[in-house]
Amino acid sequence: MNEYVPGLEGVPATKSNISFIDGEKGILSYRGYPIEVLAERSTFEETALLLLDGNLPARPMLKAFDQDMRENRRVKFRIRELMRQMSPNGHPMDMLQSMMACLAMYYPDADGFVGGDHGADLDYVHNTSVRIIAHMTTMVAMWEHIRNGYDPIEPRTDLTHAENFLWMLTGKEPDRYIARIMDICLILHAEHTINASTFAVLVAGSTLASPYSVIASGIATLSGPLHGGANQAVVKMLHEIGTPEKADAYIEAQLKAKKKIWGFGHREYSVKDPRAVILEHLMHKFAAYKEHKVGPLFAIAQAVEKAATDRLGAKGIYPNVDFYSGVLYAEMGIVPDQFPSLFAMSRVAGWLAHWKEQLGQNRIFRPTQVYTGEMQRDYIPLERRV
Ligand code: COA
Repeated sequence: MNEYVPGLEGVPATKSNISFIDGEKGILSYRGYPIEVLAERSTFEETALLLLDGNLPARPMLKAFDQDMRENRRVKFRIRELMRQMSPNGHPMDMLQSMMACLAMYYPDADGFVGGDHGADLDYVHNTSVRIIAHMTTMVAMWEHIRNGYDPIEPRTDLTHAENFLWMLTGKEPDRYIARIMDICLILHAEHTINASTFAVLVAGSTLASPYSVIASGIATLSGPLHGGANQAVVKMLHEIGTPEKADAYIEAQLKAKKKIWGFGHREYSVKDPRAVILEHLMHKFAAYKEHKVGPLFAIAQAVEKAATDRLGAKGIYPNVDFYSGVLYAEMGIVPDQFPSLFAMSRVAGWLAHWKEQLGQNRIFRPTQVYTGEMQRDYIPLERRV
């Protein structure tokens, strides 16, 4: 096939049995389990193991994985010292990408993990995956304190993954109900077939680069506003709009100016993203839990959804996962430039599952191109060029 497809739309880049999307019916499943069921019944820990290994784990396996994750929450003090040296004004995703790549310096054990055509050492892949998932969450939380000039808060082993994150982020005993909402958010963001960042992970993984570099590629690719940075952009947009009454005119003006509405549209879905449906529902539950003492963002978001859907729905453009997640995180008191990092610390489970799958069927990515340049030009000496 020599036909160029911009954005590789519809071009299969791999074979995978990790997740499935039916974009017309609004279906998303991980390893065959609908996202709604996992959001209702699973935990991030269980979902991560499901993604990595392919099956819902039996109790002893889940217990061992959970224990490993808890024991891998602490990061080496040299990592913390490196984080202290970083500019407090930089974007958290740039910190995260840099620190993920730096981990390879402290765990230089990747050499033996692949035997070329003989496949990967599965114990190495598993143990490294646990370390990366646990460390990433720790680093996201640590950064909030370090960039504000404080010592980070030590992780605890008596809390779940989501509870520990909230503990480390806020220094307050986590509210179980809110932590469960966070846990569901982590499940919802954990995996999503071959999106841009997962594709980057596959490409880096296919060169047998170290897993830390592989995940750093995923973080870098996720950071753009067209991908995982959209949740931050949504909240900025909602603040700009200011009140629900102004949503309609704002959307009208944006579309007239041919501007994108953040948190809307998806290459795969022509209906409302099933994750956006769950996140909106979670926001309702959050508001009820807070006895409706929440800020105006949710009401503005709902007005934007109506105004934008009225105008874009006919084109199959509806809210995506980033539309309500930012509102929910903002209500939890998390600062907007951390939203993409929250996305990354969930998606890392899916990235690692794809990395493992890639290693099991590896062939280096080396696509071709449609060359549009000149074939042969005469070299003109500098003094004769005009
Ligand atoms: N607001 C307004 N118009 C939108 C839109 C949005 N959020 N998303 C897509 N469109 C329009 C485009 O302008 C284009 O219209 P045209 O055919 O008249 O030129 C058409 O829909 C196709 O858009 P395109 O950008 O080519 O689709 P894509 O599949 O390449 O891109 C996204 C998908 C997600 C990058 C795109 O929808 C987008 O930029 N959304 C906003 C960013 C965002 O929320 N990203 C998070 C994704 S989870």
